[in-house]
Amino acid sequence: MTLMAAPAPRKILVTSALPYANGSLHLGHLLEQVQTDIWVRFQKSRGHHCIYICADDAHGTAIMLTAEKLGISAQQQIDSIKQEHLRDSTGFLIGFDNFHTTHSEENRFWCEAIYQRLKENNHIATRTITQAFDPEKQLFLADRFIKGTCPRCKTEDQYGDNCEACGATYSPMELINPVSAISGAKPIEKESTHLFFKLPEFEAMLKEWLNSNTLQPQVANKLREWTEAGLQEWDISRDAPYFGFEIPGEPGKYFYVWLDAPIGYIASFQHYCDRTGHDFEPYWTLGTDTELYHFIGKDIINFHGLFWPAMLQSAGLRAPTAVYAHGFLTVNGNKMSKSRGTFIKASTYLEHLDAEYLRYYFAAKLSASIDDIDLNLEDFIQRVNSDIVGKVVNIASRCAGFLRNSFDSQLAPSCAEHALVQDFIAKGSAIAELYEQREFNKAMREILALADKANQYIDEKKPWVLAKQDGTEQQVHDVCSVGINLFRVLMTYLKPVLPAMAEKAETFLNCSLDWTALESPLTGHQLATFVPLLTRIDSKKVEALIEASKDSQAAEVALSNETDNAPAQVSTIEFDDFAKIDLRIVEIIAAEHVEGADKLLRLTLSLDAEGTPAGRRQVLAGIKSAYQPEDLVGKLTVMVANLAPRKMRFGLSEGMVLAAGPGGKDIFLLEPHAGATPGMQVK
Ligand code: 2FM
Ligand code: ZN
Repeated sequence: MTLMAAPAPRKILVTSALPYANGSLHLGHLLEQVQTDIWVRFQKSRGHHCIYICADDAHGTAIMLTAEKLGISAQQQIDSIKQEHLRDSTGFLIGFDNFHTTHSEENRFWCEAIYQRLKENNHIATRTITQAFDPEKQLFLADRFIKGTCPRCKTEDQYGDNCEACGATYSPMELINPVSAISGAKPIEKESTHLFFKLPEFEAMLKEWLNSNTLQPQVANKLREWTEAGLQEWDISRDAPYFGFEIPGEPGKYFYVWLDAPIGYIASFQHYCDRTGHDFEPYWTLGTDTELYHFIGKDIINFHGLFWPAMLQSAGLRAPTAVYAHGFLTVNGNKMSKSRGTFIKASTYLEHLDAEYLRYYFAAKLSASIDDIDLNLEDFIQRVNSDIVGKVVNIASRCAGFLRNSFDSQLAPSCAEHALVQDFIAKGSAIAELYEQREFNKAMREILALADKANQYIDEKKPWVLAKQDGTEQQVHDVCSVGINLFRVLMTYLKPVLPAMAEKAETFLNCSLDWTALESPLTGHQLATFVPLLTRIDSKKVEALIEASKDSQAAEVALSNETDNAPAQVSTIEFDDFAKIDLRIVEIIAAEHVEGADKLLRLTLSLDAEGTPAGRRQVLAGIKSAYQPEDLVGKLTVMVANLAPRKMRFGLSEGMVLAAGPGGKDIFLLEPHAGATPGMQVK
């Protein structure tokens, strides 16, 4: 027999995207931080050496303008936001090993050092360009700071880079009646010399990188569109006034925020090493055996998948082991938008609900893909209550009482159903692999299937019946001891997702939940007193959260930062898909409240003027906040008539009515004028 040495722990450095220091964290940020944090906690639980760093992204025009608006200095603005960000992330149990800022001496040092190397390698070009300039504010305007009418579809109030209504992309000066979003002045065109990073010189290297399976397939495909269209030189300088680092040897010119932001990863790690005495070099040198992972949103893949690896290569630094992008967060099916203010702030959430509810819900939905994740609030309540409280916590609470009352909270000396416990432990490697691959939703499914098995086992053995019989004391003891052991395994698997609940379980179980030490069940072991681990979500608290978020929306329409090179976030559908939709005029012949539903009205719609039963459709519409049922009866509206019927919690919905608006009282049902008749097709 040969003894195999345990594999050496991996040395892993992990980052989340650096949040901008000009606004509060919202649940979109938390989706990413929770995803990263779960992965990091998982790696640590497997005995690997894993370091999680982040920082505030503190530079750029937007931050400068926010500070100006608030009447404080940029330094004061970024200092107070940093405190706030750290407080909110901590509230969500995000375990950063270091949270720094890009406005730091470490970052200045690394920006200058990397820029110097880029320059020495002849990867920096200088050129004069013409740009929009605000003559009142005396500053150059990034595309996002210019608004006007879309030259294609004529929608007003569109940003300078793309139209949110029709998806057109254009240059800001093509807008009809362009104005500076900062001062309202008409922008003029002005020349200035800029520095460029010569990205086209990295074409071969980037093509190889895109084919190296380092990126998710959808991300690599998207970035191939850039390489195939021909890479452009990347503008890395901005003119004063600008809050950032002045470029050495270029007075009045500053590093563009997107140049210094990813370098902030290095700087935050440097700060961590200086603070703790940890080794710095092996994490950034070429040919190292350490691993580097960036977790980011899919809107910033070009910065991390093209510009960043090219810069690192020119600077002689290692490339990321992988870049892991995730999709956007939607709430109840709607896109969250910074500029439109439809977001729930992290702090508002924490005032109403436990962070672990959301951590679990995100885990139950997250996968390795870049698909968007929807936080459906009804599903959220239902899932957390049923999975975690109803299934997992239930196992422990069902067994703890019997053990306390009859056995002094001491587990049986042997576990009669050892096989079931072993079966749970054996599932560990498959669950670990799912965590490793970021298939958290599948991992949660596996864990919950085990929880079902555990509950089934207790249901079958019925300790509450046995406890009333004579001579079955031993059996009660065994069943409940097995139950507690199953709970221990489940909580160990859930620990990366539910760290606070796991800590409470550790106190109750009187042992640490250690994935690497699961092999032997707890026997003859003394438990502590059972404490409630997590309580059910009260739907009233969710309602209160939504109300509170509505209040804070107006104040939250912050200026978004400059992402000149970010792809437009407009999703489009093909005309052929649109043409499949059968829109019909209908008459609302009945409308009523739906018992137990907060948002829905049940509408009976008639597709024919006679109101025959065959022409009737029942639709559950989320318009209760804006309409009284009695006001709707007799009105005409438009429905999607060929939508497949959907079974909803409150009944069947056989289509959809067309309505739009931000929510609350402002939902507007489309109302054709009289003269239209039910059944008419809308062309
Ligand atoms: O998109 C953003 O919110 C940026 N602040 C992310 C920067 S990530 C990194 F490059 F620093
Ligand atoms: Zn348009």
